[in-house]
Amino acid sequence: MKNKLIIKSKNIVRTFYSGKIETPVLKGVDFSAKEGEFVSIMGRSGAGKSTLIFQLSLLDVPNEGEIIVDGVNILKLSKNEKTKFRREEMGYVFQDYALVPELTALENVALPLLMQGHSTAHAYKKSKEILIELGFDIQINNLPSQLSGGEQQRVSIGRAIVHKPKILFADEPTANLDATSARVVIDLLKKLNKEGQTIIMVTHEEEYGKETNRIVEVIDGEIPEISKIKTKNPKPSVGQRKRIVKKKVSKTKSKIKKPVINKLKVSVKKKKVVKVMKKK
Ligand SMILES: Nc1ncnc2c1ncn2[C@@H]1O[C@H](COP(=O)(O)OP(=O)(O)OP(=O)(O)O)[C@@H](O)[C@H]1O
Ligand SMILES: [Mg+2]
Repeated sequence: MKNKLIIKSKNIVRTFYSGKIETPVLKGVDFSAKEGEFVSIMGRSGAGKSTLIFQLSLLDVPNEGEIIVDGVNILKLSKNEKTKFRREEMGYVFQDYALVPELTALENVALPLLMQGHSTAHAYKKSKEILIELGFDIQINNLPSQLSGGEQQRVSIGRAIVHKPKILFADEPTANLDATSARVVIDLLKKLNKEGQTIIMVTHEEEYGKETNRIVEVIDGEIPEISKIKTKNPKPSVGQRKRIVKKKVSKTKSKIKKPVINKLKVSVKKKKVVKVMKKK
């Protein structure tokens, strides 16, 4: 992993509007990842993980915020430039594989290169190499329906990396797989990461999250400071530690105060009652 930030986003806000209904989903998210880093995004269902990954990867556009990918302010690009950037610099893996059902494994993997204007010969040669590297043999000419779930996901990983993207985004890549196939997919992603691929993965599996460089937790559309330090090497910076201490102390203070005040009130009341009774 290098020290250079490959992606840095600031104050991402995404609110969905449907008629008069307003759904605020991302409420000012800051997120960054280093080149060569493997980051897991975790959090409850509905917390905004997919929405976040969609904004970071140009599949959607936030209402507010800034996203810099390898020095490019991607939200400032024109529509055509965004499409080009997405095709050339981003790779995507989804929970449901999202392969084109009418095309073979080989043709699916070749698609990004063909869309970038590479020659058919080059695209198929590269795709075949990738598929063989991913453990495929004769199945490269199978349709997705003729492949197992795990195999389909491996094809979709092939499609995501064939054009050597700057960042590979994976949204719950193991969610539809049995434990064995999920293991194969995670090991494959780890191997790609070791070779230098930056990966940002949404997962519900803490077991897999712990195998990545860092876990970032999305809580109700935000990434709280404390969630940014769940790393394998978990020593936070001095500033982060100070902020955590401050937060903990202020929370403890507010917890302590209430019961003490209540107890005093009760005891005062009790005394009064006793006194009144004695007088009688
Ligand atoms: N296009 C949309 N219009 C309105 N609301 C949306 C839209 N997309 C997402 N949401 C809402 O935003 C919230 C976050 O959705 P998101 O898919 O990001 O959650 P998630 O954290 O990925 O959840 P899961 O773990 O279940 O995949 C949800 O309440 C969802 O209903
Ligand atoms: Mg999701």
